[in-house]
Amino acid sequence: MKYVLIVALMLVPIGMTLAQQDSAEALVSSKPKADMNYRQLMEVLGEASSMMHMGIIRENQQMVRTGADIVLHHPAPNHKPWTIMQPGDQDGFKQSLLAFDKILDQFASRTAEAAAKGDWSKANEALTELNGACISCHAAWRGKAGANSSNP
Ligand code: HEC
Repeated sequence: MKYVLIVALMLVPIGMTLAQQDSAEALVSSKPKADMNYRQLMEVLGEASSMMHMGIIRENQQMVRTGADIVLHHPAPNHKPWTIMQPGDQDGFKQSLLAFDKILDQFASRTAEAAAKGDWSKANEALTELNGACISCHAAWRGKAGANSSNP
């Protein structure tokens, strides 16, 4: 009985890891596929962030909304994103993809909502938080990207 419990407890983390991998797979396959690789997709996110910035400077709600929509509805790249990492880093990167996807959506929405109310200071704060999230992921992962020689 004791052993059954021990074995069951040992299986919990394995189950959680598998579930997490499934979720990263599910997240990526839930998005339409772009005709571009991960790096090119990142360039698009960069343009989206600039557009939101310029929208705030110009007090143009539509520009902010358009940029936010790109972040909210960006497609998946034409390859599994984690293949840009070495095999040993892929699980960790999957977890970051999952976590940051929600965070980026949250801050992008918050920026657009503040802009829609004409609260440009608040929009700017939310955009700073959005950019902060981009920067955290870059600090953790950018240097490791391309370490896999089959990086598309
Ligand atoms: C899940 C982690 C993650 C998040 C979140 C993330 N990035 Fe990136 N980003 C990367 C990685 C990894 C690279 C390097 C890709 C490569 O070199 O293949 C990168 C590269 C870039 C580049 C450089 C592309 C090039 O041509 O070298 C830009 C621009 C960029 N990201 C913008 C953004 C913006 C803007 C956001 C937030 C709205 C963002 N990223 C959020 C992981 C992330």
